[in-house]
Amino acid sequence: MKSRMSAEAYQSEVWFLHERELLFKPLWQFVGLRSMLAQHNAYITRTVWGVSVVVQNFQGELRAFENLCLHRQNPLQIAPQGVRPLVCSYHGWGYGMDGGVSNIPFEAEVYRYPAEERQCLRLRRFALEEVGGLVFINLSDAPLPLTDQFSPDLLDSLRGVSLAFDGEVLQATFQTKMNWKLVYENLRDSHHPRYVHAQSLYQKVKFPVVLDEQGVAASQRLRQQGVQSREEALSLLRSFSNGGPDAPMEELVPYPWHDKVERYGDKDWYYNWLVFPNLHIASGSGGYSFIIEHHVPVSANRTDVVVHYVTAKKKSKYAVSAAVLLAHLQGAETVLREDFEVMERIQAGLHAQAPTAVLGDFESANQTIEHWYLDLMGARFAL
Ligand code: FES
Ligand SMILES: [Fe+2]
Repeated sequence: MKSRMSAEAYQSEVWFLHERELLFKPLWQFVGLRSMLAQHNAYITRTVWGVSVVVQNFQGELRAFENLCLHRQNPLQIAPQGVRPLVCSYHGWGYGMDGGVSNIPFEAEVYRYPAEERQCLRLRRFALEEVGGLVFINLSDAPLPLTDQFSPDLLDSLRGVSLAFDGEVLQATFQTKMNWKLVYENLRDSHHPRYVHAQSLYQKVKFPVVLDEQGVAASQRLRQQGVQSREEALSLLRSFSNGGPDAPMEELVPYPWHDKVERYGDKDWYYNWLVFPNLHIASGSGGYSFIIEHHVPVSANRTDVVVHYVTAKKKSKYAVSAAVLLAHLQGAETVLREDFEVMERIQAGLHAQAPTAVLGDFESANQTIEHWYLDLMGARFAL
């Protein structure tokens, strides 16, 4: 089936800005792990489609704000994560959990704001939801209910797995030269591991290529008829995210540290959660450790892949846990880079006259997303 996705959809900055408005602003987006925000004043910062966001713990409660001081727009928190009150380093303004300015040093002496102006000083706040150990935010003023975006089964499954994560997290960011959509398309392509990961992941897991006949028929119907209503659009959206045990592992190599953690589940399987549009969680160790990938769109041609590495919850502290995470990172990085190389080559070769993709029936999930996505971008429905 000839794809209708043009090179422009992957390369154009104007298109990218439309995506931000039509797709990303209305949707809930993963921003980080709850365990990194465990104590009072712990924070993380993320740039979400050009908007700098800080998520901060105030006495146990998480709040998300635009990370710009109201005085002169200096970022309030500068590091990717840390523990520090929400105080601007430029002239010392402090902020409270409602986003209001709690303290302006030398206010009466040097600023002399009229009372009505002073009262209106409040940070832009974003909606925030915790799903187990995962933190999501929404940039919209009228956020979609989370349950419109994710099915109850998926939310339960995400809660279950994320609550199994240990609190010790290793985080790394890979700056890639590819459009963010290539990543979700690649993740839903079960046929590439045989080739791209022949010497790495495919040695451990023989991913089956399943032809979903119902999915094929549904994607053909969608191509002909288009999305008929917002209800249908939301129902399709929920179907794009799923997860759990994916495929059996050829052999699960036992490591001594496995005894030190509470294994998630009891299957010697590869676990895989695809959370549309830009979150991927996987366990290539049968539930002993996890990789949490957040694909952050930076521009049409750039995507930052923020990766968190965790083991399952420790039974008690053990001496080599940091080394375990580092080894986990090194193993996963090989596989990630194999994917990045392919996607960066595809991105580099795109041009206006380039042939478009020809998708097979095994790619029906990507075909369905494509039709939905193009109807959204063509304003046939709105989220
Ligand atoms: S810019 Fe933040 S206090 Fe001046
Ligand atoms: Fe891959």
